[in-house]
Order: sequence, then structure tokens, then C-alpha cells
Amino acid sequence: MQVNPDDLLTIGDVVRRTGVSASALHFYERKGLIFTERSATNQRLYPRHMLRRVSLLIMAKRLGIPLGDVAAVFSTLPTDRAPSHRDWQRLSLAWKAQLEDRRRAIEALEHELTGCIGCGCLSMKACLLLNPDDSLGEQGPGPVRLQNTTPTRHSRRT
Ligand code: FES
Repeated sequence: MQVNPDDLLTIGDVVRRTGVSASALHFYERKGLIFTERSATNQRLYPRHMLRRVSLLIMAKRLGIPLGDVAAVFSTLPTDRAPSHRDWQRLSLAWKAQLEDRRRAIEALEHELTGCIGCGCLSMKACLLLNPDDSLGEQGPGPVRLQNTTPTRHSRRT
């Protein structure tokens, strides 16, 4: 028997295949991240191609990517059919800039973790040079030297 991406799966099938709990699937559906159809007996049925969306949600969660960011890129995908290679390519391009920002922020964190992050603690030798008398505090709250390299919601591209 040939498997088709538009085949409909039960919630048990999706739970088994993805390892994601039924309650999490319901949550993702409420957030508009995945879609279901209803059987004649009002049972949720998941088009098989939703497995890919759920899998990407698992990965995004693991990488600490906010659901809002995932929702923004998923909103460009068709909901009435399995996304084509071209659809995923478009999504990939849209997401690439965000992932690149995140990668740079993680690298900056990794690099600065052993040095002064400009948080106002003045607890390291480097603070005397990089944040004398907590002068960086004038730029705002938090780890000022890290925040300058961390993407904010406003600087993220969608
Ligand atoms: S590490 Fe906190 S001010 Fe330098």
C-alpha cells in the first residue's frame, strides 16, 4: 500500500510517530500551528503531512525558538494540502535570517561567558576595564554587553 502525505492519521498515530503528547497536539492546534479534519464521528484526523510540522515544532522547542516565531513562518505554508518542496524552500529562506541571528547571539554568549557581561555585578577583574563603576548601567538594565548582540523581537526579521 502506498503512503500519501494527505492520508489522515488518528491522534494515536501522531502521538506514536512523533512522541508528542495528545495535550501538546491539542495546544499546537489551538495556536494554529497544526490543523486537523474531523471524521463523521467528530474524531480529530491529522493529514499525514502534519507530522513534519510537529517534528519542526519539536526541534524549535529543543532549540529554544519561541512558538510565535514558528507560527510566523508556518503562516506562509498552505493549510489545505501538503507543502511542496518550493513551499519549504520559501519557509527556509524566511527562517534563515532568524536562525542566523540566534546563532550569532549564542556564539556571543559562549565567547563572553568567561568575561564581563556588563550586568552591574562588578565581580570579575575584567569588569574594572569593561564596566568601570557600572558605567554600562546607563545604557539600560540587564547584561548590557550581551544584549547588544542578542536579537530582540524588533530586530528579528520574519
Ligand atoms: S560581569 Fe557583571 S559587571 Fe562585569
